[in-house]
Amino acid sequence: MGQLSPPRKESTVAERKPVAVVVGATGGIGRAVTMALSEEGYALCLSGRDEAALKSMAAGLPDATWWPVDLDDAVPDVPLDLPDVDVLVHCAGVFDSGTVYDMPESQWRQVFSVNLFGVVELTKKLLPRLRAARGRVVLVNSTVVRRSAAGRSAYAASKEALRVFAEALHQEELDRGIRVTTIYPGRVATQMQRTVRRGEGGPFEPSRYLTPETVAAAVLLVLATPPDGHLTEFVLKPAR
Ligand SMILES: NC(=O)c1ccc[n+]([C@@H]2O[C@H](COP(=O)([O-])OP(=O)(O)OC[C@H]3O[C@@H](n4cnc5c(N)ncnc54)[C@H](OP(=O)(O)O)[C@@H]3O)[C@@H](O)[C@H]2O)c1
Repeated sequence: MGQLSPPRKESTVAERKPVAVVVGATGGIGRAVTMALSEEGYALCLSGRDEAALKSMAAGLPDATWWPVDLDDAVPDVPLDLPDVDVLVHCAGVFDSGTVYDMPESQWRQVFSVNLFGVVELTKKLLPRLRAARGRVVLVNSTVVRRSAAGRSAYAASKEALRVFAEALHQEELDRGIRVTTIYPGRVATQMQRTVRRGEGGPFEPSRYLTPETVAAAVLLVLATPPDGHLTEFVLKPAR
């Protein structure tokens, strides 16, 4: 006689889908992260500045809303109907190049506004919902913080500041159950990398870069870490 399988437990309470907010959802990495999380069964809130693009992306997903935010401007209030947030992934960012001597202050301010101040403000606004869900925050940083920053001082400085922000947030929120992870990708085949390569005067060679999907896989890896562990940060370089 075969072994009897245990009776299936009937759930009386409908299980809540985990909720993820992806900032910069319309970008190369943001889009891949959005798709990966959707396939994992997350309900999504897509954030970014292009409302039409967010709306049309959301329409193609099984469970998604959108929250237009221009990180270079005041971050609007969180939509009232947004439930507790299990995962916040920061994928928005801008790149700018120029020497310290040449780059005007306005450019420095714009890079910091999007890559740091907007991220800080948006995270602050979501903290009550993240605390309620003991959520995770994943920040897409860059290996630029570990390399020469010549010719890209504003971008590198903003990413270094983002690293410190993540570290502080991690220490401050750990006892409330929030876990913060920074991922440092090398070159990724996106629009931003096209801009980087144009500035470097070299060809765009996607076969030598990470795909956005690989960065998304790294985000899933972070989220799959068992609760007794915490991937605080890691570097993800192209294998070629
Ligand atoms: N590509 C790389 O090689 C690479 C390497 C390491 C790290 N990163 C980092 O990865 C992140 C994503 O980059 P990506 O390669 O996916 O670049 P991307 O394709 O250019 O996407 C950038 C995203 O940021 C959004 N964004 C830009 N300015 C914004 C603003 N003021 N308010 C709100 N959203 C804004 C863009 O929205 P719009 O579509 O409206 O412009 C877009 O969704 C960035 O933080 C970048 O620094 C990239």
